Amino acid sequence: MFAFNALVCASAALYSAGAFVLQNRHEVNNRPIIGILTQEVTDDNLKKFGNTYIPTSYVTYIESGGARVVPIKLNQSFAEHEKIFRSINGLLLIGGSVNLETSDFAHIAGFYFRLAIKANDKGDYFPIWGTCLGLQLLTVLVAGENLLSRTVAENVTYPLNFTTEAQSSRIFKDFPPNLLKALSQEPLTANFHHFGVTKEAFMGNEKLNVFFSILSTNVAENGPVFVSTIEGRKYPVYGVQWHPEVNRFQWDPHYNFPHSSNAVGVSSLLAEFFVNEGRRSLHHFSDTAEENRALIYNYNPVYVGNVSAYEQSYFF
Ligand SMILES: *[C@@H]1O[C@H](CO)[C@@H](O)[C@H](O)[C@H]1NC(C)=O
Ligand SMILES: *[C@@H]1O[C@H](CO)[C@@H](O)[C@H](O)[C@H]1NC(C)=O
Ligand SMILES: *[C@@H]1O[C@H](CO)[C@@H](O)[C@H](O)[C@H]1NC(C)=O
Ligand SMILES: *[C@@H]1O[C@H](CO)[C@@H](O)[C@H](O)[C@H]1NC(C)=O
Repeated sequence: MFAFNALVCASAALYSAGAFVLQNRHEVNNRPIIGILTQEVTDDNLKKFGNTYIPTSYVTYIESGGARVVPIKLNQSFAEHEKIFRSINGLLLIGGSVNLETSDFAHIAGFYFRLAIKANDKGDYFPIWGTCLGLQLLTVLVAGENLLSRTVAENVTYPLNFTTEAQSSRIFKDFPPNLLKALSQEPLTANFHHFGVTKEAFMGNEKLNVFFSILSTNVAENGPVFVSTIEGRKYPVYGVQWHPEVNRFQWDPHYNFPHSSNAVGVSSLLAEFFVNEGRRSLHHFSDTAEENRALIYNYNPVYVGNVSAYEQSYFF
């Protein structure tokens, strides 16, 4: 279910390399709202529930960090998406298995990505987090080409092999040393992918190297070393090839989901980290009524535990 097809996505790299200035450094938004982009349903077992979805685990993950969630429906005009962008404080791109070239998910994610780069260049802080397919899509958007190759890691858990840049990274610098050590030694990260970006391909691409630091790598079951955690050098753009949300919010015993105390700790800290990034964004809805209408609380999740690896999912 987390598998995805490596497909050619030739969108141009549209971020600019302008100076990054953080304005409003002193202002903190303690009511952050994170947008989660819905994705086309590809799993036949789930199609009867709706055309697009967000598994509940991603929603509870963000909520656990202290934010509220707005689902972003794909089928809206760019003007509507731009309005949503000005109303939310960060964007989460979920895992899944849609086409990176032709899916609405990829197109709309690219639209938000370009808005985020422009906003950050103007000092308007706006973080983006990509998980699994989300990370892969971020590399396509930055590189302007698809550099994915077969890096099979299906239903396996790994410790992270940290790079030297991890210690000083924004994601990991405030981790308690014992948890960072556990993350480097215990299999706390769940992997469900057939494709990824190898360390070699990543290092060989100038755009990716300029944009991102590699914070960790792992060895795929079929041999290649793939990037497993990345962080924007200048921009608040983050990616994990693994699935931190499953550690606390998915329980299907048929899958290798880490639930140890350390696994839960890692998942909690990453959710809090990303929500803290969202606290630096001062975007807001025009009024409370509009905000209320947009929130995930207007929707009911559906039980899908007997037909998928998720417990529940929202459908749109
Ligand atoms: C998107 O919205 C348009 C206009 O409301 C509608 O005609 C179309 O069927 C929708 N497409 C999907 C995939 O829902
Ligand atoms: C971790 O990565 C380093 C290089 O960054 C490599 O030398 C080492 O073999 C890797 N270890 C594992 C367990 O993958
Ligand atoms: C996932 O891995 C676990 C533990 O290795 C195994 O018991 C289970 O059968 C695997 N599930 C699938 C769907 O391959
Ligand atoms: C899954 O559970 C739902 C709700 O309990 C039930 O309606 C449905 O028939 C079940 N589906 C299968 C394939 O067991």
